[in-house]
Amino acid sequence: MAIYTYKTEPLTDFNQPENIKKYEQGLKIVSNYLGKTYDLIIGGKRIKTDKQVKSINPSNHREVIGTISQASLEDADKAIQVALDTFETWKDVKAEVRADVLFKAAAIIRRRKFEFSALMTKEAGKPWGEADADVAEAIDFLEYYGRQMLELETIDRVVLSRRNLERNEYKYIPLGVGVVIAPWNFPLAILVGMTTAAVVTGNTVLLKPASTTQVIAYKFMEVLEDAGLPHGVVNFVPGSGSKVGNHMVNHPKVRFISFTGSKGVGIQIYEKAAKVQPGQIWLKRVIAEMGGKDAIIVDQEADLDLAAESIVKSAFGFSGQKCSACSRAIIHQDVYDVVLEKMIKLTKELTVGNPELSQTFVGPVNDHLAFGKITSYFEVGAKEGRLVAGGKADQSTGYFIEPTIYADVKPDARLMQEEIFGPILAVCKVKSFDEALEVANNTEYGLTGAVISKNRMNLERARKEFHVGNLYLNRKCTGAIVGYQPFGGFNMSGTDSKAGGPDYLVLHMQGKTVSETF
Ligand code: NAD
Ligand code: ALA
Repeated sequence: MAIYTYKTEPLTDFNQPENIKKYEQGLKIVSNYLGKTYDLIIGGKRIKTDKQVKSINPSNHREVIGTISQASLEDADKAIQVALDTFETWKDVKAEVRADVLFKAAAIIRRRKFEFSALMTKEAGKPWGEADADVAEAIDFLEYYGRQMLELETIDRVVLSRRNLERNEYKYIPLGVGVVIAPWNFPLAILVGMTTAAVVTGNTVLLKPASTTQVIAYKFMEVLEDAGLPHGVVNFVPGSGSKVGNHMVNHPKVRFISFTGSKGVGIQIYEKAAKVQPGQIWLKRVIAEMGGKDAIIVDQEADLDLAAESIVKSAFGFSGQKCSACSRAIIHQDVYDVVLEKMIKLTKELTVGNPELSQTFVGPVNDHLAFGKITSYFEVGAKEGRLVAGGKADQSTGYFIEPTIYADVKPDARLMQEEIFGPILAVCKVKSFDEALEVANNTEYGLTGAVISKNRMNLERARKEFHVGNLYLNRKCTGAIVGYQPFGGFNMSGTDSKAGGPDYLVLHMQGKTVSETF
């Protein structure tokens, strides 16, 4: 099959009037299907259930995005049986046919790009630029994993025999039925990446989306069907994480779990999956990508405008609700006051409000739970630091929190240790680059980090000593690009599976050696 070289999906330039029109058109399309009901999809069949939940627009509580049936434990069992049965055929479908489904899905999403972005603006509160980047990343995952699978298949795996009397072969085969448990903060990109990596490698899937972004997930199921994915390969099983999610994780016939979400839930899944259940004949594999407490270090010699801009963008893009978001700024004492002033100025210039307006940079946070958790840190911040920007919140129409900065925070403070997952940034002053690295590494997480410096030797030290899965030098610490910056973290940030990288697909497969003597 002729296939052009992988290249990333370009981001949309919203300075062009025609792109503004297209986004507004996307919002209109979405408005026309607001409030519809959505069923489970098991083996291609739509199943309406007694339990339903409403998906709400986080910038406007009164707007219902859709009502989604929720799976019971029996529905989940049914889906597991369908996935087991479908695996028997899907595992033997040629890699190029599986990859082609991904390429077609990419083309369909590309055609409906503005609609998907607009849906994300409505259901997840993502401002235009962030939603556009999320959709572009979803397309990238499809294009990249499709090609990766073709490459895995075509690599000649016949190992030359050391003696002339045997033929040795090494081949990857799929694992079986996987449970994909996705987060809400990249409701399309991460869900698409996790699901299609499992599918293109020949596995079948139970897909459990996060509870606040189930309509986007359902729309992706429709894309897979339109792209020709056979029924039963991906089964849509929305439901409570602690009930249905937990049940599927424990099920003896589930072969692997691919999870992205918080540290607490990731640890629980890891522990539960380790327990061998009656009737289980394998050790479950767990891919778990979890939280972050990411830092940007500003060195004594640095471009201070770049430093302030990188920190503010990384801290407040999508209201700080990224695992990669900068939540700690660690600044050398000689430049501390200047950088802080610049950060405050930039932060005060950010537009907070309705993400449906093109100029909005900071939209709402996810839901009432996120609003409660994040604002509880105002009290903590008042004790641990000096409030220099933001500090106000309002949930009268949507869950809005001002981008907030606390200065002069000590390295062991809660603000410097706990993942807040919202627009709250702690700033810490250090005396040297040594101390900066020590403070940066003083966390149980290890996902992203950045260093802004003009000192070559310090940059080289950071390469080796800043212990994070994704390290960025002289740029922001968010926005990894599929195929260019494989993404995943160390320590309590997860199993470092490196989504969008060359090793990701094989995590969904097992290697088989066949040796024939002749
Ligand atoms: P979460 O852990 O609350 O939920 C993630 C998913 O797990 C959801 O689908 C949820 O329903 C499900 N779940 C909850 N309890 C469960 C249980 N007991 N058993 C099985 N499933 C269960 O996380 P979230 O709030 O959706 O996402 C935010 C978190 O995700 C943050 O911590 C963020 O840092 C992290 N995240 C990490 C990455 C990464 O690549 N490392 C990317 C995005 C988000
Ligand atoms: N992959 C996302 C980023 O790098 C989380 O920001």
